[in-house]
Amino acid sequence: MIIAIDGPAGAGKSTIAKKIAEIINIEYIDTGAMYRAVSYKLLNKGINTSDFQDVVKCLLETEIDFRNNHIYLDSKDVSDLIRTSEVTSLVSEVSAIKEVRDKLVYLQRKIGERKSAILDGRDIGTVVFPNADFKFFLTARPDVRALRRYEEIKDKAEKVSLEEITKSIIERDLKDTSREISPLKKADDAIEIDTSDKGIEEVVSEIIRIVKGA
Ligand code: DC
Repeated sequence: MIIAIDGPAGAGKSTIAKKIAEIINIEYIDTGAMYRAVSYKLLNKGINTSDFQDVVKCLLETEIDFRNNHIYLDSKDVSDLIRTSEVTSLVSEVSAIKEVRDKLVYLQRKIGERKSAILDGRDIGTVVFPNADFKFFLTARPDVRALRRYEEIKDKAEKVSLEEITKSIIERDLKDTSREISPLKKADDAIEIDTSDKGIEEVVSEIIRIVKGA
């Protein structure tokens, strides 16, 4: 069984998908984390996204794995390292590169073919698993999404203001929805849920009800 959860940043996708995976005991794959891991590696190696040959060579030498909801890049746990604002600023650019998408979509399909999974991202219901058993598109107002991100990172070492987060979310939305390859888009057959005025548990129950009722 495959459950696809798509939507913009801060709509609650990963928190909700992780809970559902736990409750119904299936694999959770955070596909955004995979794009972040590649961005992190390019940053670390000082590779510019415009240096096409270097990006492709780096991709060939890159291994990405998930274990216990942690992401491993070339066998190193990078779960926290990929959440910096430096990575966040680069990730939309990196995820617009065809070769990056081809490799990550291939990996995502391979995982999904092995076991039942819930995947969250931007193109799961449209491109990665167009025949997914269930498709959901989570949205929320930009101000709500920015506030959620702010609450998430305000206690971390990096200090970012709510204004900066709001600006970055709006910029990322624009880049993710307007890119040429696999833009963020609701699949025609996805169920849309606006999470602005709903609690996490409420959305989790709503999705589980739909999945179990089938
Ligand atoms: O879910 P997130 O905010 O961690 O995702 C980071 C970026 O990765 C997001 O700005 C767009 C990109 N992404 C993508 O292009 N396709 C996906 N399936 C998941 C994420």
